[in-house]
Amino acid sequence: MNVASHTASSAGGAAPIIELVALNRTYRTEEVEVRAVRDVSLTIERGEFVAIMGASGSGKSTLMNVLGCLDRPTSGEYRLAGRNVAELERSELALLRNRKIGFVFQSFNLLARTSALENVELPLLYSVPLVPQRERRARATRTLESVGLAARMQHVPSRLSGGQQQRVAIARALVTAPELLLADEPTGNLDSRTSIDIMGLLQAQNDAGLTVVMVTHELDIAAYCKRIVVMRDGEIIRDEANAERRSAAAERAALDAAEQQARLA
Ligand SMILES: Nc1ncnc2c1ncn2[C@@H]1O[C@H](COP(=O)(O)OP(=O)(O)OP(=O)(O)O)[C@@H](O)[C@H]1O
Ligand SMILES: [Mg+2]
Repeated sequence: MNVASHTASSAGGAAPIIELVALNRTYRTEEVEVRAVRDVSLTIERGEFVAIMGASGSGKSTLMNVLGCLDRPTSGEYRLAGRNVAELERSELALLRNRKIGFVFQSFNLLARTSALENVELPLLYSVPLVPQRERRARATRTLESVGLAARMQHVPSRLSGGQQQRVAIARALVTAPELLLADEPTGNLDSRTSIDIMGLLQAQNDAGLTVVMVTHELDIAAYCKRIVVMRDGEIIRDEANAERRSAAAERAALDAAEQQARLA
């Protein structure tokens, strides 16, 4: 079960990063059966920036958990970078996930008594091959700098604002240099200005080659993405390119200029 040899068989990176074929995820409890994801077929190529929208309970998080290999489909196929995840053993899947995917949870999931820096170092502890301690620290530091948190690295999460905690969560997802970033409501509970900054960060990462799939309730936020997928009752009911994409960097610059002008007036 050598991951390197499997990877070589799909060399060239020609396979889409995500390929779902007739995928279902059904939750079964004693009384009921919930078909949270129904017969979803979806292909996402490298370099895409996809928003997943839909009402509460439409299956967005269920789909994201499958995409992130945190959960397995009930039926159907999921190919991650050309590899059918159903055929992988637990340890192989864990390795593939660690290498390929960064996951941002809606609730941040940061360790409370642990500094921002140590939170971001954490995924590197599970990397194969092993990343030496000094290298872990250096990479975590660089990643936190890249999300604008150079001055806050020693703070524990409770001493950071919501937007800053969200950035730590994003840095933690990016520190392993994944190919795919999955983010469940990365701007949930943030004010509009902080949301622009977070979307600017994601757009910059996407411009640099990262594939991004994110869940959002807000059309305003989906407007920063390149493609919008809408779910209803577990199914994809719409899937369209976003022709009029917003640019967070441009909006941020305009906001700053307007403020400067107001100060001078
Ligand atoms: N662990 C579970 N066991 C049973 N049913 C579940 C479980 N998790 C989710 N569901 C059900 O599956 C459906 C889809 O839930 P999911 O969390 O994927 O929705 P969502 O689109 O992410 O909603 P929200 O916008 O509120 O986060 C819902 O009907 C939900 O009640
Ligand atoms: Mg959800």
